[in-house]
Amino acid sequence: MSLLKRKKKDAAEANGSGDAEAVATPTKGERMGQAKDLAVHHGTHKSIDVAGWVDSRVNATGIFTAMMSRHVPKGTNWFYTLGSATMFIFAMQAITGVFLSMYYTPSATQAYASITHMTNEVFMGEFVRGMHKWGASLMIILIFLHMARTFFFGAYKYPRELNWVIGVVLLILTTVMGLTGYLLPFDQRSFWATIVANNITASGPIVGPYLADFLRAGPDFSATTLSRFYALHMMVVPGLMAALIGAHLFFVVKLGTTAPPWVRAVRPKGARPQEEVTAGVAREDLDEVPVNGAVAAVAVEEPPVDQANAEAAEAEAVETTEAEETEAAVAPEEPAAEAAAEEAAEAPAEEAPAAEEPAADETAPEEPPADPADAPSEDDGDGEVKS
Ligand code: HEM
Repeated sequence: MSLLKRKKKDAAEANGSGDAEAVATPTKGERMGQAKDLAVHHGTHKSIDVAGWVDSRVNATGIFTAMMSRHVPKGTNWFYTLGSATMFIFAMQAITGVFLSMYYTPSATQAYASITHMTNEVFMGEFVRGMHKWGASLMIILIFLHMARTFFFGAYKYPRELNWVIGVVLLILTTVMGLTGYLLPFDQRSFWATIVANNITASGPIVGPYLADFLRAGPDFSATTLSRFYALHMMVVPGLMAALIGAHLFFVVKLGTTAPPWVRAVRPKGARPQEEVTAGVAREDLDEVPVNGAVAAVAVEEPPVDQANAEAAEAEAVETTEAEETEAAVAPEEPAAEAAAEEAAEAPAEEAPAAEEPAADETAPEEPPADPADAPSEDDGDGEVKS
């Protein structure tokens, strides 16, 4: 059964009529669309979409969307373009470098001549060489500015530490590109400047001398030094950089970019409310300390200015009185018992400010209650004083 007939049948069944002929005749546009569907289906459509065919196999649209259609934090500004600008210069260096390599000869005897030839005689040679030369300086400036942006915006912190480390390696490799490229014209200036740079490298701690030997390709500066610098500049370092830039971008896409430090984070909708913690008392401590102890701690630290604290002080006074009364009760035979009982009656008035200053608490009793059960309970167990 053809696709058209099957569609008609499906539509008829969906209508509930069961009669294929009863379905309305398709319009001209619908018929053309159906014909195209069929042609694509059978592979006979002439203008078959090559990009779509490739896309359906490699999911280029998906990758592009993931890279480019991203949410960026509020406050994203021009400073966020510095990384892309560095990457643009890296690409430009790679393209101009390919053209330069078509005319450059990496030999100690011919390097300089090949450079003068490409500058003076090759079409646009001076322009391309100038772009490569200025691009090198620009890349160093941009990479430092980009690094400063990520540093001052705190983008090196969790979870982006690894991207920072990759960035540091990229910075080192960028300077290695500058060093190795400087020697390639092999004129007086580049020759002596490289000797100086090599001697500085050799003065580095522990690995310095080995690194200098490796770069020189032996104990002395020679023709092989130029070959080594050329290989590093043309293949090793750019290859490493391309791979690391790929990893760097992967992390940028995966983790997103950091908001500027002056943009306040908004609590996501539906987030758990933040727990309130009683001032001066750590929540974990409250769980350990007996309930009344915690209340007393709050009351002692802050003088009883409101009713809640006045009640707390009152509770403390009640405890003290009871303790002293008990003491007096267990030693009735002692001659000083009477005096002790009198002292016990006076003591709460000195120790409990709430009892002495009824103005702070209108409801405070003049005499402390005899029964501890009468003492008011201020704490509901969560460590917060209720008023
Ligand atoms: C070849 C050199 C480099 C290229 C091509 C490059 C490229 C990029 C790009 C395109 C971004 C995303 C956009 C932006 O924030 O600017 C980025 C982000 C980042 N780069 Fe680089 N970068 C390079 C070197 C460095 C260096 C030297 C560091 C630090 C040492 C660094 C650390 C970071 C960090 C931490 C982020 C994340 C920024 C954020 O989350 O806000 N990058 N890089």
